[in-house]
Amino acid sequence: MVNTAVTLCGIELTNPVIPASGTFGYGREFAEIYDIDCLGAFAIKGTTREPRFGNPAPRIADAPAGMLNSVGLQNPGVDAVVARELPELAKVYHKKVLANVCGFSVDEYVEVAARLDKEDIVGWLELNVSCPNVHGGGMGFGTTCSGAAEVTREVKRAVKKPVIVKLTPNVTDIAAIARACEDAGADGLSLINTVLAMRIDPAARKPVLANITGGLSGGAVFPLALRCVYQAYEAVGIPIIGMGGVRSARDVIEMTLAGATAVGVGAANLINPFAAKEIIEALPAEMEKYGIENLVDIIGGAHNG
Ligand code: FUM
Repeated sequence: MVNTAVTLCGIELTNPVIPASGTFGYGREFAEIYDIDCLGAFAIKGTTREPRFGNPAPRIADAPAGMLNSVGLQNPGVDAVVARELPELAKVYHKKVLANVCGFSVDEYVEVAARLDKEDIVGWLELNVSCPNVHGGGMGFGTTCSGAAEVTREVKRAVKKPVIVKLTPNVTDIAAIARACEDAGADGLSLINTVLAMRIDPAARKPVLANITGGLSGGAVFPLALRCVYQAYEAVGIPIIGMGGVRSARDVIEMTLAGATAVGVGAANLINPFAAKEIIEALPAEMEKYGIENLVDIIGGAHNG
C-alpha cells in the first residue's frame, strides 16, 4: 500500500492533488457529481475587494493542446465570498481551501487577505501576483522581485495563516522572483500561472480575444511549468505547489520529482470535470509502477543525479 500523503505548510493532505484557482469555482458544481473531500485541497477563484464582472467576451480561445482565457478576475468580491460562498462550500467540503487573493494595490491585497485569513475553511492564502488578464494589478506585481516581495511582506504582517505566492512564468528569471518572495517571508510558492499568449482570427483579421491577449494553459505548457518548478526548487527552501498543464498521475510524479510538494490541476478540470478525482485514483498504481512507497520521499528527487 503506497502513501500519497504530503504536508503543505504544516497542514497534512491525504494526497497532493489540488484543483487550481479559477478552474473549480467554489467547488459546489463539482460536489454535485463527486465527493470533493477526496481532494488534497483546492483553490477558490481569485478574490478581489470589489465584485468584478471580468473582461468583455470573447474571453476563451482554443489552442493546440491547450486553451487561452482572459476572464479578468470575475468574482463576487470578498464580502460575498465570506458571507455566501465559503459557508455554502462548508456544507459539502470538510477540508481546507487555498484562498486565492488578488489586488490592484498592495493595500487591496492586504485587506482581502486579512478578511479571508479569519475564515475557518481557509488553510492557506494564495497571493495571486500573476494574473496576466488585468491592467494595473495581478501580474504587474509578480514580474519584479521588488513588487512580489512588497506584496508578500505586507500581507505576511497582516495574517496568521501560511502565505503561498503564486508566480507567473512570464519573467526572465523565475528563480530570482521565487527567492525574493521567500526572503520577504513567503511560506510557500505555487507555479505556474498561465503563459501570456494570443490568437488571431484570419477572417476578421483581428485578435480572437476582446482583451487581445490571454493566458495559455493546458497540456501544452506542462514542460514549461516543470522547468519553472525545477528552477524554483533549486532557489528556495519553502514548499512548492507545482501546476501548469498537469493531466495525469504520471504528470504528478514528474512535478514531484521536479520539486513540488503538492500539485495543481487546472485546465484539465475544464475538459473533464472528473479529472482531479481520476488523477487521485490513478496515483497509487502509478507510484507502484515506479517503485515509490511514499510520495514525500521523491520530492525534488530529479535534482539528486
Ligand atoms: O483572468 C483571470 O481571471 C485569470 C486569473 C489568473 O490567471 O490568475
